[in-house]
Amino acid sequence: MPELKVLISREQIAGRVAELGRQITTDFAGESVVLVGVLKGAAIFLSDLSRQIHLDSTFDFISVSSYGNAKQNSGEVKLMKDVDQSMEGRNLILVEDILDTGLTMSYLKKMMLAHHPKAFKIAALLDKKCRRQQPIYADYAGFEIPDEFVVGYGMDFDERYRNLPDICVVP
Ligand code: IMP
Ligand code: MG
Repeated sequence: MPELKVLISREQIAGRVAELGRQITTDFAGESVVLVGVLKGAAIFLSDLSRQIHLDSTFDFISVSSYGNAKQNSGEVKLMKDVDQSMEGRNLILVEDILDTGLTMSYLKKMMLAHHPKAFKIAALLDKKCRRQQPIYADYAGFEIPDEFVVGYGMDFDERYRNLPDICVVP
């Protein structure tokens, strides 16, 4: 097992997730929201974030696979699992672990807007802005990080390390 360096600690994550939850609670006061998590990386973020959102809310999940190896995203996206319910007229918050090139999110945004939601927002725990190839931004962004491959708090390297409580850098 390689030496993993902590980039963002569990305490920092918890503090920021609480802030994002407060912001969403304020922005959608009096309304309901549907949180759509992108499997599997966003599962832990969604479970923590949702408990900091004090609104009537429901969950849904989608799953995509990008062709390419573990560290490289080829840019092609394939839908493996769609949402279970219609998003028409809903306040949709797409919950993602990390915005990297933005290719996945651009694809998902287009797909979700076709449902005609009332509102469409993106919550991304991490943002690698310097890697962006598509003009897409998170409405609720946790942390901006440099161009490093990270694992933990839901994120994997070849499916491993998702259960690490801190966000760590793979050397
Ligand atoms: P994008 O389409 O390039 O924005 O890629 C987004 C997806 O690639 C994320 O949802 C992650 O699943 C994955 N990804 C990108 N960077 C990392 C990383 O540093 N660690 C783990 N997964 C990553
Ligand atoms: Mg992902």
